[in-house]
Amino acid sequence: MKKPQIINLGAAVPDERILPRLMIQKAFQNVIASKGKELLSYEDGSGNHELRRLLAKRMALMNCPVAPDDIVITDGCQQALYLTLKKLTQPGDSVAIESPAYYGLLQILDGLQLKVVEIPTHAREGISLDALKLAFEHWPIKACIVISIGSNPQGFITSEKHQRALVDLCEEHSVPLIEDDIYGDLHFSAQRPSVCRQFSEKVIYCSSFSKALAAGLRVGWVASRQLAKEITSEKVTMHLASPGITQSAVAHLLEEGKYEKHIRKQRLQIANAMRALLQSINTHFPEGIEYTHPVAGYVTWLKLPDECQLTGTELFHQAIKQNVSIVPGILFSSSNKYENYIRLSSSGYWDDKKENAVKVLGEIIKNSMPVKA
Ligand SMILES: Cc1ncc(COP(=O)(O)O)c(C=O)c1O
Repeated sequence: MKKPQIINLGAAVPDERILPRLMIQKAFQNVIASKGKELLSYEDGSGNHELRRLLAKRMALMNCPVAPDDIVITDGCQQALYLTLKKLTQPGDSVAIESPAYYGLLQILDGLQLKVVEIPTHAREGISLDALKLAFEHWPIKACIVISIGSNPQGFITSEKHQRALVDLCEEHSVPLIEDDIYGDLHFSAQRPSVCRQFSEKVIYCSSFSKALAAGLRVGWVASRQLAKEITSEKVTMHLASPGITQSAVAHLLEEGKYEKHIRKQRLQIANAMRALLQSINTHFPEGIEYTHPVAGYVTWLKLPDECQLTGTELFHQAIKQNVSIVPGILFSSSNKYENYIRLSSSGYWDDKKENAVKVLGEIIKNSMPVKA
C-alpha cells in the first residue's frame, strides 16, 4: 500500500500532479457514450482495430512503417516484452541486455528461466558494440534488448550512428533485436530522436502509454510482422483479450490530437523537473557524487562517492526511516553489480518536499563519510 507520508524519489512514473486525469476521464465518458455496447463485449485478441490503425499511423510518422495487423495490443510494455521473449526463446537460452538494466526486464528473464548476458552500457553512447560482438561470437544469444530513447536507469539517447551499427551487428549475427521505446515520447529535444526500428523492420518494437499518459491504463503494444500472429495466439491463450474500453479511450485521445497536445506539454514539465532534480543533487550531495545527465524520461543514475561508507541498499534503508524512497542500484543487475549506485526519479514534477527529500539523502551520505582533517 502507498504511504502518503513517503516522498517517492524512486518510481519512474508520472507524478500524480502531472497525470492528465480530466482528459482521460472525458475520453472514457466519450467512448462509453458513443460505443458503450460494443465495448462491453470481448475485444479482438490482437487489440482494438482503431487503436492499432492509429498506432501504425503514428509509427509511420516516426519513419517506422508498420501495418495495423502487425501490431498486437498488450497490457503494458512489460507484457509486450514478456510475450516477445517467450516467443523467441526456450528456458536456458541466453539473452543480451544493457547493463545497468531495468529491473522489470530482469524479472521477465528470470521468470522465463533465461540466462542474462549483461553488456556494459555507456551513459551517453549506449550498449558497447565491441562487448556485444564478443558475446555474439562466444554464446548462442537468442535475443538482444535495448532502450534507444531514455534508457532506464541512465536516461541517455543513443545516436543514430550507434543505432544503425547495433542493427547491423544484430542482423550480421542473426540475433533478433527488441527495442523498448516506452520513454520515446519523453525526450527533452524539439524533435523525436531516431529509434533502431527505423533502420530495419526486423527490429521488434515494444512500447506503452504507461509513462506518457498513465501506468494504470495498462495499454501497450508490440509491432512485429514476423511475430504478431504468434504473440496474439499466446496472448489469447493467457487472457483472451485486453479491455476494449481502455483501448478505445486511448484511440480517442490519439484520433482527436489530444495525446499529441498533452505530450508536448508533458515533455517541457519533465525536462524542467529533471533540471530541478539535478540542481538539487548538485546543491545537497557531497563532492565525489557522479550522476548521469538524462535527455529523456524521469530518472538519473548516481554513483555514491568512493568515501561513502553506505551501499545503495543501506542508503535505501536509512532514507525510508526518514520517509524518503529511492531505488538501490543492486536491482539493476542480475549479478549483484552496482552496490554503490542508486536511481533517483523526478517523476516529472518538482516541489519543496522533493527538494527536502534530496537534502535528507545528502545528509545521510555526508554523515557516512569520514570527516576530512
Ligand atoms: C524500460 C521499461 N520498460 C518497460 C516497463 C514496463 O512498462 P508498463 O508499465 O507499460 O508495463 C517499464 C516500467 O517502469 C520500464 O521502465
